[in-house]
Amino acid sequence: MSYSITALPGDGIGPEIMASGLEILETLAAKFQLDFTIETHPFGGAGIDAHSDPLPDATLAACQKADAILLGAIGGPKWDDAPKRPEQGLLALRKALGLFANIRPIQVPASITHLSPLKQEIVEGTDFIVVRELTGGIYFGEPKHWDENGAVDTLTYTAAEIERIAVQAFELAKTRRNKVTSVDKANVLASSKLWRQIVEQVATRYPEVTLEHLYVDAAAMILIQRPTTFDVIVTENMFGDILSDEASVLTGSLGMLPSASHPESGPSLYEPIHGSAPDIAGQDIANPMSMISSISMMLRQSFQLFEAADYLDQAAADTMAAGFLTKDLGGDTSTTNFTKEVKKRVKGGE
Ligand code: NAD
Ligand code: IPM
Ligand code: MN
Repeated sequence: MSYSITALPGDGIGPEIMASGLEILETLAAKFQLDFTIETHPFGGAGIDAHSDPLPDATLAACQKADAILLGAIGGPKWDDAPKRPEQGLLALRKALGLFANIRPIQVPASITHLSPLKQEIVEGTDFIVVRELTGGIYFGEPKHWDENGAVDTLTYTAAEIERIAVQAFELAKTRRNKVTSVDKANVLASSKLWRQIVEQVATRYPEVTLEHLYVDAAAMILIQRPTTFDVIVTENMFGDILSDEASVLTGSLGMLPSASHPESGPSLYEPIHGSAPDIAGQDIANPMSMISSISMMLRQSFQLFEAADYLDQAAADTMAAGFLTKDLGGDTSTTNFTKEVKKRVKGGE
């Protein structure tokens, strides 16, 4: 069986962590005799440079025909004033592929609790998933415009959009610890009032799952105070964006967190939750764990290659446990060396 992957390295540290991830994937493929066909395409700032478009037509077409898509990261100061920014390419890609369900797992295994800036007893055992709605809300609502005198963004959700993301969260919770925390701002926002009502309705179909509601401000606090109380968090686009970056700190670094984005049908996309990190790009110090774990999510969720994914996760965890840590986690291992150490463990040489 052959699996086709469209790779979008993007900008900043994107190409560095993509190179790391693909090298490791190649080693894993040799070990498990798997056949991956990988096509690389320009996207984001690289798309603007090559084709004056952050999402060139050929890149979108390659994504549409792939079995799965791997994305590094996009954006950077070079394109901040471009007529169409790299970020617009990312939003357009998510919309074009219908990637409404963004799954962001946050785990702090015992071996890395000491890397968190929080007390070990607070983070130990943290294991939850943020289910972020990815194709609606204030990111996409119209009208949206600004000039010197004023600006408008529009926050819209249809009942159908809320229902389908809620179903994703409840289905996930059923495979885990049977708890869903829905995060909204129903004390202020009309869209959140509807959100809460629809989530309540969906919950009646899942009697085995406990549902709790939190306002987003309180949720931000509880994430830091008692993160182990969460199982599945479901929330709208912008709240999910902010809370998941906050949650990454529990693990010690934003450079640790992967994600999967699923459509109703068609290829899924896998990407770190972080950005292109222009402040460290080109220095060979980026943490590639976010990309390695995104690849492992792809192996599981798009290809059902569970054994290979487990093996990859173990090799990466062993590498960290052996003391190979990038700078963001207080170590001095380069991206290149970390990659080499993971490959060594994938080959079984350690
Ligand atoms: P960022 O996520 O790029 O970086 C935030 C901080 O985290 C920086 O200090 C950075 O060095 C660090 N960091 C991030 N990933 C790391 C890694 N793998 N290893 C080590 N350190 C890491 O956020 P930002 O600086 O606010 O944004 C930079 C650009 O990225 C912007 O153009 C933004 O729009 C874009 N962005 C893109 C995506 C995406 O491609 N999905 C996501 C977020 C931001
Ligand atoms: C992310 C990013 C994007 C988002 C930006 C770059 C559009 O922050 O993937 O989390 O806000 O969704
Ligand atoms: Mn983000």
